[in-house]
Amino acid sequence: MTGLVVAMDGPSGSGKSSVSRGVARALGLRYLDTGAMYRAMTWWMLQQGVDLADPAAIAARCGEPRIDSGTDPDGPAIHVDGVDVAGSIREADVTGAVSAVAAVPEVRTRLVARQREIIGAGDIVVEGRDIGTIVCPGATVKVYLTASAEARARRRNAELAGSTVEAQQADMARRDNLDSTRKTDPLSMADGAVELDTTALSLEEVIAEVLSLVKERT
Ligand code: DC
Repeated sequence: MTGLVVAMDGPSGSGKSSVSRGVARALGLRYLDTGAMYRAMTWWMLQQGVDLADPAAIAARCGEPRIDSGTDPDGPAIHVDGVDVAGSIREADVTGAVSAVAAVPEVRTRLVARQREIIGAGDIVVEGRDIGTIVCPGATVKVYLTASAEARARRRNAELAGSTVEAQQADMARRDNLDSTRKTDPLSMADGAVELDTTALSLEEVIAEVLSLVKERT
C-alpha cells in the first residue's frame, strides 16, 4: 500500500463516523464505513427471510448479495444489488440483528475482502471494529475511540427519535458485548493504536487530535 490509511475503531457511539468523516474532509481523503456493509448484509438477510438465529443459514447465503459502498465523506452511498439502502440500514430491525450477522466468520471473510478492494492503494479513512487488527494492520495511523457508556448512549439518542437514553444504553451494552466477545475478529484495540477518550471532548477537538497524529506519522 502506498497511500495514507487512517484506521478508526471503537464501540458504537464513540464518535467514529463523525470523526472519520471530519478527518477525511480535512485531508481530502476517501471514507469507508464498514459497519454500513455489515448492516447492508443484515438488511438483505432480513429481506430474504433468512433465520438469523442460525449461523449456518447466514453462512450459506452470504455470498449472494452484491454490496457496493461509496467513499464520499459527504454522502456515503450504500447499495445492495443496486438498491439504495442508506436509510433502511439504520432502522431498528437491522440494528437489532446486525451483531448476529457480523459474528458469522463467512460473512466477515467476504466483507473484509470487499473492504480491502475498496481501500485499494489507500488515501482513505476507514471506520469499524477490526480495521487496525484485521482489515488493515499496516494502516498509517490507528485510532481507538472510546467514550463513557452514558456519553455514547446520549449521542446515539440524539440521532434517534422515540428512544430514551436508558433504552439506548441497554441496547448498546448488549451490542458491544456481542461485538467484543464473538470468536471471529472481536472489537479490540490494535497493536500500535492510540486510544482517544472522547467523553469530555468536542467533535472539533477529537478531529484536531487525529489530524495531529496523522501529521506526526507522515
Ligand atoms: O458501526 P455500526 O454500529 O454501524 O456497526 C454495525 C455492526 O457491525 C456492529 O454491531 C458491529 C459490526 N461491525 C463489525 O463487526 N465490524 C466492523 N468492521 C464494523 C461493524
